[in-house]
Amino acid sequence: MIFINILSENAVQQCIQLIDEAKCIAAFTGAGISTNAGIPDFRGPKGLYVTRRYDPDKVFDIHYFHQDPKPFYEFARDFVGLRKKIQPTVAHHFLSQLEESGQLKGIVTQNIDSLHQMAGSKNVLEMHGSFWVSYCTQCRKEFSYEAMKEKLFAQEVPTCSCGSIIKPDIVFFGENVKCLAESADLAGQVDLFFVIGTSCVVYPAAMIPEHVNGKIIVVNRDPVKIRDKDIALTVQEDIDSFFKKVSQCLNN
Ligand code: OAD
Repeated sequence: MIFINILSENAVQQCIQLIDEAKCIAAFTGAGISTNAGIPDFRGPKGLYVTRRYDPDKVFDIHYFHQDPKPFYEFARDFVGLRKKIQPTVAHHFLSQLEESGQLKGIVTQNIDSLHQMAGSKNVLEMHGSFWVSYCTQCRKEFSYEAMKEKLFAQEVPTCSCGSIIKPDIVFFGENVKCLAESADLAGQVDLFFVIGTSCVVYPAAMIPEHVNGKIIVVNRDPVKIRDKDIALTVQEDIDSFFKKVSQCLNN
């Protein structure tokens, strides 16, 4: 136990040193940064792909969605209902403060929960989109989050006035990710890059760390698929516990 604490203390100090030395920082985040907010991840022990509370093969597949959008909308109703209760975590706030201090240039996220923006982050590249806007799959009419939310709880499958199905602007398997070039560019520009709460297995997003020329800090409980030679520090503990300690030390 003492051994673990010493290791953890070392990691905090190393992280602070890397932040101090860095001129320009960016972060790449995944579902693990939001589990402490109460949103399950995908591949962690209580992840959606493990518990299979929703069938991921049906819920997030664009071809299935066009055949039968109901499984997706069951998930969407729960997710949007959950959003009323969720708040950004320590790690979301840590990153927004790093941006405010001028060191962090931006965040590339795979998450669709918008918790980075709720924490105050400004430059957030949402590779897998978000629920902020939705579009009619036929006439492309745009629907705000509020308008979509209303329809979501009024109709089993939200439809447009033209009769076609509405789809939130999130990226399904079988669709192109967003801001790929911009995200790769950001990763290539910085000298310190955080990889937080992602298993790094879903491509092309998982390719982003490969563009990093600087040092990488990985904060993730399970091992992450990134080339070892690129990693300056690996922290395999709870994301919020770690960033709480880093914040406390930085503010002292
Ligand atoms: P994953 O579920 O694959 O990975 C989340 C990682 O976070 C896991 O390795 C967990 O061990 C770790 N983790 C969870 N909570 C943690 C905590 N409190 N402290 C430390 N580590 C923690 O999620 P992503 O990598 O984001 O795509 O998944 C990528 C994509 O797969 C998603 O964007 C989604 C999914 O299919 C689409 O739907 C298109």
